[in-house]
Amino acid sequence: MRLEFNEAVSRLKSGEVVAIPTETVYGLAACLGDIHAIKKIYSLKSRPEKNPLIIHLHSASMIKDYVAELPLGFNQLAQEFWPGPLTMVIPYISKKIPQIVTAGLPTAAFRVPEHPVALALLEMTGPLVMPSANISGKPSATSADHVEADFGQDFPVLDGGDCIQGLESTILYWNGQVWVVARLGSIAPVEFARVLGYIPEIVVKDKDTAPICPGQIYRHYAPKAHLILTESVPENGPNAVVGFIDRQYPKGKKVYSLGSLTEARGPAQMLYAVLRQLDDDGVERAFVDIDFPAEGLWLTLKERLLKAASA
Ligand code: TXA
Ligand code: MG
Repeated sequence: MRLEFNEAVSRLKSGEVVAIPTETVYGLAACLGDIHAIKKIYSLKSRPEKNPLIIHLHSASMIKDYVAELPLGFNQLAQEFWPGPLTMVIPYISKKIPQIVTAGLPTAAFRVPEHPVALALLEMTGPLVMPSANISGKPSATSADHVEADFGQDFPVLDGGDCIQGLESTILYWNGQVWVVARLGSIAPVEFARVLGYIPEIVVKDKDTAPICPGQIYRHYAPKAHLILTESVPENGPNAVVGFIDRQYPKGKKVYSLGSLTEARGPAQMLYAVLRQLDDDGVERAFVDIDFPAEGLWLTLKERLLKAASA
């Protein structure tokens, strides 16, 4: 069910969960202080309770209300990449942040989104927590239609069009000394070098077994269709291929196009829509062409596909 902007604001303020657009993916939003609504987010998504939520702010300066001390480089990162698809995980957080948001961790994740509708909304509602607006484990939602496909036609959605980025925010984690990448996302790690003076390392797990980003241990991004990743699509096997317009595939295959190989931006935007299309068409098995560069945003695409295929 599509909401008018003002209705989305009033529903959020009165304790409801509403799906809203961001430049990365749609989010399932609730007000930061509203424990009842936040619990509802977890149950709606069937999200494991140990998987914390990102706090979305209208502006970087608001973080002072929630964090006692800001890590080295925070201000420079915020200045350069906010509003935008960067999430920063920070220690020294205030008791004002409900435990249910952080899943009891001593850190919290913050982001200032870039989508004009999200920013206008945040200005009216104050900080919102939101995970991606999909059933846990499934491909994320990059349009209002995707949200309705997962949560039903009656679910309240503020329609802000298709998401421009199409992949989630990059998560940087402050480990006490340096920033590390805890989740690949819409910003390639190399881009942070111009601000930090170093390329943050990709660290999925800490020295001691615990994953830095709890969400990384769960099933993710997976359609019902079984995905077979390959650098060379054979003639036999499944008839469906997730691939690129600039490639030739064996005759008779049905190609689900991610767009062109010339730039990763296009395929990034298309990825979740294409994975969802496979399920809409009842495809059971599909090849995925992963013969693309192992650099920049392509790395995020490959990581998402590996996760989607491993389910
Ligand atoms: O682009 C995005 O980041 C989207 C849009 C809606 O903003 N949101 C999103 O949320 O992707 P979600 O819940 O699908 O993924 C958030 C990830 C999870 O893997 C979670 O474990 C991690 O962020 N996270 C949240 N708080 C954390 C914390 N305090 N420490 C480490 N990881 C955290
Ligand atoms: Mg998610």
